[in-house]
Amino acid sequence: MKKLNVNGKTVNFDGDEDTPLLWALREQLGLTGTKYGCGIAACGACTVHIDGAAVRSCVYPVGVVEDGEVITTIEGLSKEGDHPVQQAWAELDIPQCGYCQPGMMMAVSALLAENPEATDEDIDAQITNICRCGTFARVRKGIHLAKTKL
Ligand code: FES
Ligand code: FES
Repeated sequence: MKKLNVNGKTVNFDGDEDTPLLWALREQLGLTGTKYGCGIAACGACTVHIDGAAVRSCVYPVGVVEDGEVITTIEGLSKEGDHPVQQAWAELDIPQCGYCQPGMMMAVSALLAENPEATDEDIDAQITNICRCGTFARVRKGIHLAKTKL
């Protein structure tokens, strides 16, 4: 039995600890905001935070999460959906189909927590999430707008 701290709650995971965190979140805990895209850490649809750092949960075994580490999913990013990144995303109407956007917002919020002055070069280096709808230009605008709301 593995204890996980997810979005401020302690939950028990009783499956195989080799299970990718993504499936523990989606299937055991019903937190379906985190998406499955590629399964090979390439697209970022499954991005969550562990102790504030962006992690691709499709390749992150549950057993690797250490006791006391805090997991945050898109459902726990803010209480009222009003994190600066969420506000910017709503204001600029960034999502198209929306599928990649929870992972995109988790990656961006981790970047801005670490680097509130992120430049285009920082964005290029660290936001490598893939959007099949091609929202990249709006995402970039959203990141710069979110910086003004931090
Ligand atoms: S589903 Fe995890 S990176 Fe694509
Ligand atoms: S908004 Fe459709 S995949 Fe990104």
